[in-house]
Amino acid sequence: MNGGVRAAGWRFLPLLFLLLFGMIGCEQSPQTTITPVTDFGREINSLYLLVTVLAAFVFITVEGALLYAVFRFRARPGDGQPRQIHGNTRLEIAWTLAPALILVVIAVPTIRTIFATQTEPPPNALRVRVIGHQWWWEFQYPDLGIVTANELHLPTGRPVALSLESADVIHSFWVPKLGGKRDAIPNRVNHLWFTIDEPGVYLGQCAEYCGTQHANMRMRVIVQTPAEFEQWVQAQKTVPQPTTAEAQQGAQLFARSACVGCHTVAGTPAQGKQGPDLTHVGSRTTLAAGIIPNTPENLARWLKDPQAIKPGNKMPTLGLSDADIQLLVAYLTSLK
Ligand code: CUA
Repeated sequence: MNGGVRAAGWRFLPLLFLLLFGMIGCEQSPQTTITPVTDFGREINSLYLLVTVLAAFVFITVEGALLYAVFRFRARPGDGQPRQIHGNTRLEIAWTLAPALILVVIAVPTIRTIFATQTEPPPNALRVRVIGHQWWWEFQYPDLGIVTANELHLPTGRPVALSLESADVIHSFWVPKLGGKRDAIPNRVNHLWFTIDEPGVYLGQCAEYCGTQHANMRMRVIVQTPAEFEQWVQAQKTVPQPTTAEAQQGAQLFARSACVGCHTVAGTPAQGKQGPDLTHVGSRTTLAAGIIPNTPENLARWLKDPQAIKPGNKMPTLGLSDADIQLLVAYLTSLK
């Protein structure tokens, strides 16, 4: 009996170490929730810390009392029948009141945070419409006249008000370092607002199962200083022109191809709305919702057989010749 109890106790040790290493791992991971860079993220994180500390206190107190009782009052050889008792009113009141009190301590700041994170954004907030698609993200800046995809540029120090929508099924917008996830639901607009205080590239992804490529519905939030952000805005407002002869040929081919049915390139007849806006596709760092780096080789691979890279995605294999692909790559990479 004695040995059995000891073995059971030791069994927790590896679990504790695993938990500890897991927490250390989170600290360095790019998608951690425990080092937020927004006011919204910090609100939620302070709740998380409070609950974790209280839970650790409860765990240590209860397990400590349990282990103490197991060892202190264990059966010894020669012990007779123990004293028979029934109930202990004082103890029962104590262990009913203590958890109730702990729940109140958790509930009050939780309710306060729920209301604090549901308020209206300030009027000077930068508005962005976030639209979830199977399986990519569309970002529209209605006040700036900019539309982009999968890479959301935001400034530091200014409130950002996101409205979350969906073009098809339920998605969920989640950039862990910016705060909690919020769903993007068809025929409904959800809101989320925060102010970011540190420039950087923050990784995010869809957090609601939305079909075959849910796991590859990623995004990058590129947070810049206000001056850098303004530069980006100005660049996005210009309509890029293909400069090389190859890129110009590519532009003509693009305008004649099926591409224009689904994609928009500002200043051209291409005004399709099914796929990502390609007006400045050459300035993005990744393709296919963040799953491959945006290089001419990868773009060529994508145009040749998008289904091989991201099976099930809505871009059909167009059966383009290698020569045509080369022209299209020259054109698309020139759209900076
Ligand atoms: Cu979109 Cu999961």
